Amino acid sequence: MAAPTPLGKPWGGRFTESPHPTAEGFTASLSFDRRLWPSDLEGSRAWARALERAHLLSLEELEQILRGLDEVGQELAGGTFPFRAELEDIHMNIERRLQEKVGPIGGKLHTGRSRNDQIALDERLYLRDVIGRLDRELREVQSALISRAEEHLGVPMPGYTHLQRAQPVLLSHHLLAYVFMLQRDRERYRDCLGRASVLPLGSGALAGTAFAIDREALARDLGFERASSNSLDAVSDRDFLVEFLCAGSILGMHLSRLAADLTLWATAEFGFVEFSDAFATGSSIMPQKKNPDVAELIRGKCGRLYGNLVAVLTTLKGLPLAYNSDMQEDKEPLFDSIDTLEAILAVLPPMLASLAFNVERMREAAGAGYSTATDLADYLVRRGLPFRQAHEVVGRVVRHAIDATRPLQRLSLEEFRRFSPLFAADVFDAISVEASLRARSAPGGTAPEAVRRALAEAKTLAAEGL
Ligand code: ARG
Repeated sequence: MAAPTPLGKPWGGRFTESPHPTAEGFTASLSFDRRLWPSDLEGSRAWARALERAHLLSLEELEQILRGLDEVGQELAGGTFPFRAELEDIHMNIERRLQEKVGPIGGKLHTGRSRNDQIALDERLYLRDVIGRLDRELREVQSALISRAEEHLGVPMPGYTHLQRAQPVLLSHHLLAYVFMLQRDRERYRDCLGRASVLPLGSGALAGTAFAIDREALARDLGFERASSNSLDAVSDRDFLVEFLCAGSILGMHLSRLAADLTLWATAEFGFVEFSDAFATGSSIMPQKKNPDVAELIRGKCGRLYGNLVAVLTTLKGLPLAYNSDMQEDKEPLFDSIDTLEAILAVLPPMLASLAFNVERMREAAGAGYSTATDLADYLVRRGLPFRQAHEVVGRVVRHAIDATRPLQRLSLEEFRRFSPLFAADVFDAISVEASLRARSAPGGTAPEAVRRALAEAKTLAAEGL
């Protein structure tokens, strides 16, 4: 059979008519899947070695193919690779270029392989790199939060439920909450990596490969844990990708909550934090404005992370086995989610480092709004009153204090004792912000010593890579 003409399709033999230009453009994925090239080359090198082990390539042919793939890799890395959209995707572009470099020997590379197991492999290899990168980037964000927490150890602020002042907490405690959320995100990515590290190559188009490929050796060669057990499943499975997008959606949700907290804290009404000019923008009409755009966009970009997850889930829903072209639609959402997350993770550490916390304002707010009323009830509990009764008594004390427009600390002992004879002079020690914080010393609480322990734990976690 004649070698393919430079612009011909690899499937030219079966066809008598060329594709309609609109159809050709419509089916091409090269514009976005070209970024898979390093993974595609890695997979092809390993496949060539497997073919040699199966005696389908001689050692010399293997060397020629590997050399050719290296040359192709240099062109891709150097930006001189002649991409051809009519060759549809990155796989066929690389394969055709290899043939141009090494001649018809290059045509042996696709022996026993299909683009269906090839793309499934490429995506897994690609995600392995991306997950490693995301883990490092997430550790940077954790470290930035930890630095700010360490710097502000001891600064109280109001803790909220229902966005109403609830109980005092340490600012460090609030910041560390995000470190532990991000730790779970890292764990989710690690779990995802475990399931992504299964070799689909050697599944052929759908039924398996007809050549004696040692798939376990190939799996080891590529650093995978094992080879897949069912060829139909292997070429159809995009669970690993859905999991990855899901982990990214949860991560995006966490980051959006952090961004929302900061945006709220930067309002004049809260006044807890000021963004540096470097991470804010102005208004084109209102000269006084300083808007927290970076934080708002972190909050907002969560929407596309969810959208991408739902797009891929929806594409996969109801797809008959095995490969279908619909699955080509998995890539743009995947890449968009990766780019979105990496952009957020890049901007966050310097933005966090540049925040100016208004600790005086936080400290002042921490004790306002009867935030130590629970401590007052706990005081009565320690003197033997059942908690439900203590709650009732303190509710009435608070009602009285509100009517008298005074904070709890400014009621007299005599006033306290009108509500319960259990109140004694030491009640005032129990309702300070410091006492409230100190009391919550059980692990995971906001007492300074508990937060110091959590800080040490957070540092250990952020120091450990995947
Ligand atoms: N570009 C394709 C994709 O992304 C590669 C696999 C194509 N396989 C096929 N039989 N058309 O899914």
